[in-house]
This record gives sequence, structure tokens and C-alpha cells, in this order.
Amino acid sequence: MNNRPICFFDSGIGGSTILKEVIKLLPNENYIYYADSKNNPYGNKNKEELFEIVSNAVDNLLKYDPKLIVCACNTATEVVLNDIRKKYPDITFVGTEPAVKVVHDKYQDKKTLVITTKGTGESERFKALFNNYKTPDCTLIEAPLLAGLIENNKDPYPYLKDLLKDYKDIDVVVLGCTHFPLAKDAIKKILGDVTFVDGSVGIANRIKSLLKENLNDNGRSINIISTKKDVSETILKIIS
Ligand code: DGL
Repeated sequence: MNNRPICFFDSGIGGSTILKEVIKLLPNENYIYYADSKNNPYGNKNKEELFEIVSNAVDNLLKYDPKLIVCACNTATEVVLNDIRKKYPDITFVGTEPAVKVVHDKYQDKKTLVITTKGTGESERFKALFNNYKTPDCTLIEAPLLAGLIENNKDPYPYLKDLLKDYKDIDVVVLGCTHFPLAKDAIKKILGDVTFVDGSVGIANRIKSLLKENLNDNGRSINIISTKKDVSETILKIIS
């Protein structure tokens, strides 16, 4: 048994869509969630800025002696996680990537739209992943303002209505940012009854398999750190 915490970070509330799945699978763990709303959106930062921001988040989490750190952010994973792993070689990190492989494995013949942040869409690591798993009818678009709207509790519908106006008959939408599952209702209003794909279940399984004998069997606490206004209430609602 290992009761050290599993730590998460993201540019705010988005990563709690991953935390929710992890708690479902591993309900007896202690969790610390670092909501870096002060630096939202990560998706519009350059690589150097993002490396500093993520290093700062990791340094804050190291104080809690984590057994594993989840980078609950596609953008940070794609843009800087390789370099962060080199900077902290003793720490186990789990990253988050847009679930294009799920589409490749399950929805080959479907019309698919992959929506990412600007940072993810333009990163070399994601481009390689996308080109590797791209299905015949698959389109990639960036939604540079969406994470910020969601983080600031603004209605994403008008922005999405304009962004998605040219897309018809979509079957599958890959939510390539951990904030985007929080806009599912608005996306459905525009595109209809699509199937959503995100990486959260895969990440929960990956954490379980990595921890093996280091799982906890009698913990269960959730501690939320907010770098701007307190977002604990919102996060607790998302994971409930
Ligand atoms: N939630 C993050 C992601 O998965 C970051 C969004 C942002 O801050 O731009 O990419």
C-alpha cells in the first residue's frame, strides 16, 4: 500500500474531466489537483513560457511527495512534457493526448472532427500522432478561444456556432483538450447527436497499471489548489 498522493495539474478546471474517470477506477487514493487558472489558456503560450509555467506547477506538486503526476492537459503534454520528463527524471508522469488512436481503432469509416487548442494543433508531437492515426474522413481544427471561455464560465455556444458552421454530418468528435468535454452540450446543439471521444478512460487505466502494488486501499481525499480564484466548488461539481 502506498498512500502518497496522485497529483494532477492543468490550466484550470479542465483536467478534472480526467480526475473524474481516475476516481471512478481508483476510489481509494489521495488526490491533489493544481488548477492553474492564472495561466489559462496554456494553448496560446509559446514553448518557453509553457515550460516555465509547467515547471512551476510541478515544483508546487513535488512538495506533496506525489507517487505520480498526471499532466491533465493535452497542450502541456504535446508541447513540453518531453522536456519536463528530462528535467525531473525521478518523477513518473502520465500525459494526455487527443484520442485519435481510439478513432483509428474503432471509428475508421466515420466522419470525424478533431478539435484541439492552438498549441496542440501546431505541436510537432501531435502532428506526428495525427498523421499516424488519421482515418480517411478526419478533419483537424483548432479552437483557440474555447478553453478560456469554459474556464471563465462563459457560454461557448456563440463561438462554437461560428467555428463549426461549415461542418455537416459529423459522426465523431475528438475532444482534444481536457476543457472541451465541458462544452459537449453546446457542440451537440450545433452538430447533433455525435459520438464524443476523449482520453480520460485510457488515462485512468494507464495510471492503474503503472501503480500496481503502489495503489492505496484506504485513502480518499481530494485537495484542490487554485492559482487564481478558488475553483474548488466547480471542480467538485464536475467530478461528482
Ligand atoms: N485543458 C488544457 C488542454 O487539454 C489546456 C487548455 C488551455 O489552457 O489552452 O489542452
